[in-house]
Formats: sequence, structure tokens, C-alpha cells
Amino acid sequence: MMAGRRRLLPCVGLGLFAVLLCWVWVSFASFSEDQLHFESSLEAADRAAFQPQSALSDMEFASISSYRGPGNFDRRRNKELPIILWWSGGLFPHFPGDTERIDCATSSCLVTSNRKVQLYKRTTSIIFYGTDFRAYEAPLPRLRHQTWALFHEESPMNNYILSHGPGIRLFNYTATFSRESDYPLTLQWLPSLEYLLEPVAVPLQEKNRLRHEGMAPVLYMQSHCDVPSDRDRYVQELMKYIEVDSYGKCLNNKPLPDHLEDTATATGEEPGFMNFVARYKFHLALENGLCPDYMTEKLWRPLHQGCVPIYRGSSAVADWMPNDHSVIIIDEFPSPKVLADFLKHLDENDDDYARYLEFKNHRSITNARLLEALETREWGVNDMSKPNYLNGFECYVCDQENARLAAERAYRKAPKTNRAPQPKMASNSHMGCPLPSAGYGDVRDLPADDGWLQIWPQDYWQSLDQAEGLESLIRHNESDPSLLWKHMQNIAVSRARGKH
Ligand SMILES: *[C@@H]1O[C@H](CO)[C@@H](O)[C@H](O)[C@H]1NC(C)=O
Ligand SMILES: *[C@@H]1O[C@H](CO)[C@@H](O)[C@H](O)[C@H]1NC(C)=O
Repeated sequence: MMAGRRRLLPCVGLGLFAVLLCWVWVSFASFSEDQLHFESSLEAADRAAFQPQSALSDMEFASISSYRGPGNFDRRRNKELPIILWWSGGLFPHFPGDTERIDCATSSCLVTSNRKVQLYKRTTSIIFYGTDFRAYEAPLPRLRHQTWALFHEESPMNNYILSHGPGIRLFNYTATFSRESDYPLTLQWLPSLEYLLEPVAVPLQEKNRLRHEGMAPVLYMQSHCDVPSDRDRYVQELMKYIEVDSYGKCLNNKPLPDHLEDTATATGEEPGFMNFVARYKFHLALENGLCPDYMTEKLWRPLHQGCVPIYRGSSAVADWMPNDHSVIIIDEFPSPKVLADFLKHLDENDDDYARYLEFKNHRSITNARLLEALETREWGVNDMSKPNYLNGFECYVCDQENARLAAERAYRKAPKTNRAPQPKMASNSHMGCPLPSAGYGDVRDLPADDGWLQIWPQDYWQSLDQAEGLESLIRHNESDPSLLWKHMQNIAVSRARGKH
């Protein structure tokens, strides 16, 4: 089951990778008064605490180029900086070599993927890539002085541990698709306002002509079929009442034209593919996992092209739409049949259909939340003049950690005049995706051997058990994460005895 999960970072085009290759920080932030005092506030005793310990020699760190962006006022040498450790392998870290100095808006840190530093005093934070986070591989024992940071921009289906309170609360800082997270990535798939306001790619007259030639009004294009949102079950029912052209592997009823075969699963913006899908009046846009604020290119692409999305995904999708009449929300219809009747009505009434595309006229973008979020986010998508959100979150963690260390020092020095820094941890609102439910109908009516039923609800509850197991490992100060299974068993036993 794990094998089917995506491991790669999604990109809008090749944008993120291109930006990852560009190490340059450009115009990141302004400076505050505080950091001017950064250097002087670092006491001699603190410096000693920051000395590298044996294994990571001066030499290793000496080889790091002391790269600076527009500059902060942090003049410490590399060996004095707090260390942030990337725990997840694979794509990370996203810089050459295993260690790099990062110079952020207010302070600097060393970032490394070298696990030798795990138990160092200077290692103040560990960052995890959500999709790769495994309770049985967690860095234990969890040291009191270390914070954990979670970067998870991908689908909730990739790791349901993070959707449970006991799982997400292990983290002190989060960057997820949820607007409630510390460093929200909610509009990660929306490059810009201009992307939304692009003129309609295929005029309505042309779409109507194609309809007369026998093209279906609705497009479905999906090749990842066994997913927690169980979308095929819904689409299959909808297909009974309205014509849908389905080109992907799921519910396929049409071959792709030869020239598009290679890009059947492309999420990119390849022009041949874009022109092909833009001809449809409606795009079925169902996310693979359902969670508030989880929205992907499936939603934004039809809005960009001037096709109307028929959407199921984030239950709060209306909060981010250009106006209150630009998306058809599946769950607002009592049944697939009622939805199909509504779509047929729009198909036959041009004025009613066209109303869904009125936002393409600049003045009708009325959603202040959307405008503000796009304007104020510090990271860019396909925008070399802004940091990408991965570097942005790393810097968020770095600045937070330096501020916390400074506050702890100040408190130690003068406990009467300074407040102890308050602990900070994530809450379930930073992800909190619900138990997967049947795409159509009642889960209790599904046969016991139903493929979806056998996988996803169990995966969800199993993830809760693992989250509780890891919590228990940490509480018992275990240093061997493979004891997870034993702790899970103990929890199950005491629960069965009614002690839990
Ligand atoms: C980080 O989170 C852990 C677990 O929730 C918590 O015990 C700890 O106090 C937090 N640390 C800080 C510095 O906030
Ligand atoms: C936790 O375990 C580590 C070694 O595994 C030990 O150094 C540390 O003192 C322990 N902490 C507590 C609070 O028992």
C-alpha cells in the first residue's frame, strides 16, 4: 500500500525544482531593532555551549561557504550557530553537500542532513518531511531542548499519522496546506492572480460546437485510482446520468489521442495537454484525499483555463474561490443525479454557464481573503524573485529557534525581569483530516471485500495507533524507535482491559 504513495515534491511545472536550484535569497525581509543586539546578547558561556562536539569537526563546517543574502545582523561564525537537522532523506536536503549555512531574515543557522548531529546540544531543531515521517524511525530519545518541525505540503493520504492529535502535537512548528499551520502553504498550487485571470482558453461557442460533434460536457482524467477520497465510486454513479469523457486509467472510457499518450499522467502545463482538456465545459476535480484547505492543481487548472470545476476536496474551498459563483461543489448536491441534472441545465443555458466564468473579468474577483493571501505570502511559485516555500520554512524555523534561544538566555540571566518562553506546539487544526468516507453511499453498505474499505479506514486508525505508540516511546524516554510495536501492543492491551 505504501508503494502507491507519492514520494516526490509536486511542482507547478518544473518551478519548484528550478527555484530549488537557485540558492540565492532575494529581498526576503526587513530588519527589526532586536537583531542589532544579537551579537552582544550572546554571552561567553553560551558560546561554549554552542561549540561543536567531537564528531562534527571544525573542518567539516569550515568548508561551508559563508553565503549571505541581503544580510541580517547575525555576525556569529558557523560554529556558533544553532544546527537544524533534516531527518528525511530522499530529496532532502535541497542543497549541495550535507551542510549549509542559511542567513535568514533575522538570524542565521546551519542546516544539515548529517544525522551524526542528532544528539548534539547545538542541534536545536529537527525538520521532517511529512510523507517520509515514520514513527518507527523517529529520532529518539527526544531531547528536551530540541524542537521538531514538520514540512508537509502533500496529500493527507501520504501519512495519516499527521492527521491525529497525538501525531501532530509532537511537532512544534508546521508548514502544511492548512491555513492554521505556522507557515501555511494553502495556495501552493496557485502561482498568481494573473494565472486565475487568464482569458478563457476556448470560447463557449467553440465548446458548444464540439458538444454538437459529440464531445461530452464533462472531463475526468485520473490515473491514481485507489485513493482515500474514493472518488471513482462517485464519478461512476454520476456517469449514469450525464456523459463523461474519461481518459485516465480510472473509469477509462476513451483513448487519449496518440500525441498525448506520454503525458497521460502529467500534472504539468504541457501545451498539447492543456489545449486538449480546455475544450471541455466542466472538469471533474476530486482530490485524492479530503481535508480542509487541501487544494491542488486539479482545482486551479480549470479555473485558469476557463472550464468549470466540479469539485470535491477541501470542505472550505469556497473560502478561496475568486468569487461566490466560480465552482460547483459536489457536496452541495444531494445526489449524483441531482448534480447531473444541474450540469445538463448549465450545458443547455449559455448565460447560466457563463456566469461561472465572470470572475475572468478583473473587477469581479471579490474574495478579499484570496487577494490578501496572494499578496502577503512571502514565497513564490515559479517566481525567482521570491524564496520558495521550502527555504522559507527552513528560515522560519531558524528565526523562531534563535528567538527562543535568546529568550531562554535572557530568562536564565534575569528570571525576575524576563518571562520564560512559553512552549509552542502544533494542534490538530494544523492538519486534522477526517476519517476517509465512501465516495458515494454509506460505508456500512459496502461489501466486506471492498478494496477501498479494506485499505483506507484501517490505514487511518492504524496511524492513530502509531501516533500513540510514538508518544509513549517519547514519554518513556526510549532511544530505540523499533520498540514502537511493543508500545502499541501495550497500549492495546491496557485499552482492552479498560484502563486507557
Ligand atoms: C515542543 O513540543 C513538545 C511536544 O509537544 C513539547 O513537549 C515541548 O515543550 C515543545 N518545545 C518547545 C520549545 O516549545
Ligand atoms: C533519556 O535518555 C538519555 C539516554 O538515552 C539520557 O541521557 C537522559 O538523561 C534521559 N532523560 C531522562 C529525562 O531520563
